[in-house]
Amino acid sequence: MNTPARGSLLGIEHLQQDEALRLLKLARRMNPQKPRSLLRNRKIILLFYEPSTRTRSSFEIAAKSLGAITTLVQSSGSSIEKGESLLDTGYTLRAVGADAIVIRHPSAGAPHLMAKYLDIPVINAGDGMHEHPSQALLDAFTILKHKKSLKGLQVAIIGDIVHSRVARSACHLLTRFGAKITLCGPPEFVPEVATTLASGLRISRHLEEAVRGADVVMLLRVQKERLAGQKISLQDYIAHYQMNAARLKLAKRDAIVMHPGPIIRGLELTSEVADSPQSVIVDEVRSGVPVRMAILARALGRAK
Ligand code: NCD
Repeated sequence: MNTPARGSLLGIEHLQQDEALRLLKLARRMNPQKPRSLLRNRKIILLFYEPSTRTRSSFEIAAKSLGAITTLVQSSGSSIEKGESLLDTGYTLRAVGADAIVIRHPSAGAPHLMAKYLDIPVINAGDGMHEHPSQALLDAFTILKHKKSLKGLQVAIIGDIVHSRVARSACHLLTRFGAKITLCGPPEFVPEVATTLASGLRISRHLEEAVRGADVVMLLRVQKERLAGQKISLQDYIAHYQMNAARLKLAKRDAIVMHPGPIIRGLELTSEVADSPQSVIVDEVRSGVPVRMAILARALGRAK
């Protein structure tokens, strides 16, 4: 096998715009409160090589809300600990009857490799510092609950962008629909080269400048686990880039505050901002279920 199986979702960069739209429309018709048997007895393996709370639980609940059977395989407690390769793990999961694999992995490209050799759909639940397509879709879905359109929307993405697969996928998706994105953070987190990620991106080193007039303020966690020995001063970060109530006032009055989670209160944002009426952070988590139901229905050919 060389081309990924139909229904695979590996990233946003190569996802057609009409495919993204179709997924968002389908997600609107999904209701986790009303379980359906669309994927009855289909077997979905959740293969997680990295920690996860939101992504893992919402994929599982999405799958079960559609009647599928799920099995969780994590690197600790599985043969991955014994040194089994990614592909051998994939072949094993296929042999036990997996109809689709949802994978999170610390290396960029791991889901793509699996998709190249397996004849079942592979869904990327986050690969290293590369992409997190289901998060970008649920973020677009959440924005569209609060704003009429993505076109012309001023979006400020603030924080550790270089290590963020969430930011990368969001930039691809939101700019494709006409949003204007400002990336904001210190050079260690937002290198100049970040503007080449998608068209229409600009960089600001000043939080106040990035936030002024924004419709959407998206905050990101400092990914300490990916800093690879690099030293950054959290005190300086807080002084210049922490989102607090005074800084948020510079955004439009009806601006929404987003964060993919996990949030670290007192670092990238204050509790006041996290819990403010403008915060849609919990709503993002909630959106994860219908959006992932749509992704799984499409993966298994039931996206009618
Ligand atoms: C993020 C991730 O794992 O990429 N979280 C998520 O999936 N909602 C972001 C993070 O870990 O900071």
